[in-house]
Amino acid sequence: MTPQEGIPLDRFLTETLREYPGATGTFVDLMQSIALAGKLISSRVNRAGLSGMLGATGSTNVQGERVQKLDAYANDVFIRALEHRGHTCMIVSEEEGGVVRVPEQWHSGRYVVAVDPLDGSTNIDVNATIGTIFAIFRRISEEGTPAGDADALRPGTDQVAAGYLIYGSGTVLVLATEQGVHGFTLDPLVGEFFLSHPNIRYPERAQIFSINEAYAHEWTPGVREYVDTCKAEGGWTARYIGSLVADFHRNLLRGGVFLYPGTVDKPEGKLRLLYEAFPLAYIAERAGGAATDGRSRILDITPTELHDRTPLVIGSADAVQAATARMVGQTE
Ligand code: AHG
Ligand code: MN
Ligand code: MN
Repeated sequence: MTPQEGIPLDRFLTETLREYPGATGTFVDLMQSIALAGKLISSRVNRAGLSGMLGATGSTNVQGERVQKLDAYANDVFIRALEHRGHTCMIVSEEEGGVVRVPEQWHSGRYVVAVDPLDGSTNIDVNATIGTIFAIFRRISEEGTPAGDADALRPGTDQVAAGYLIYGSGTVLVLATEQGVHGFTLDPLVGEFFLSHPNIRYPERAQIFSINEAYAHEWTPGVREYVDTCKAEGGWTARYIGSLVADFHRNLLRGGVFLYPGTVDKPEGKLRLLYEAFPLAYIAERAGGAATDGRSRILDITPTELHDRTPLVIGSADAVQAATARMVGQTE
């Protein structure tokens, strides 16, 4: 057993965060709640076909998208896991129109969590990899009081941590803090996450590009030029799973760039800023990568609405810079 194997999530967090003066353990408690939500969602995802959890609920969410049963389950589990532990004051969820404030009977804690409870919903019924994405902010308003919208509409640089859970051949929790990016694999036999991917960094060279080529006819010239350049260069592989979190995770480990650009009729693109682009951009930068909206740095953006959308170019720094340069160039 190597020294790092067998290190459970809470021990790792306690040991790494000990360097933070004033660390009170509240963040470790928050991460334990997120890990619990991840275990519950992972267990339900793995048995979805047996527990009547496939298919749609019949309702549509604020995004105008058909809500899958697992979307609703993941949303409910995540909110309940965060509400009554005293570390969170407010949750912003893809599946909720407005903010979810911690109810009166529980302490309104110091963190705000923005979450995509289940990312890649169209992949649920076909057993492809899906995940949960979360961003963590410190509140601006006074702890113990009800949080306000201003606590949620912050620039991406205000995040103190971000991460995702990926429900694939195994369940992995990837967490980024000031200290770096680390991956923890769930051992379902003991119900614990153990350190499995310490100090994740993008590899030197990008070799994968991820983009939905079905929209090629709607791409702006810069996007088309970049993709054609990758193809002409050779040495690249195209991979697109249709779950942002899965495409992001593979590109993080292997080196690559994911693009979901705006189009002529949808310049803002499809992906959401607060709980998809922000957390993944935070993780990407801490792993030596980059994230732009095709023009400027994602983390410098301040949302005007909870469910703002943004074009997204994210992954290995050199590839993101090359793609962004083409996309900026197209408009000059
Ligand atoms: P969600 O399931 O949370 O709505 O996210 C789906 C997103 C993202 O996961 C993925 O990259 C993208 O939708 C795929 O969109 P297209 O099917 O248009 O390519
Ligand atoms: Mn999503
Ligand atoms: Mn989702």
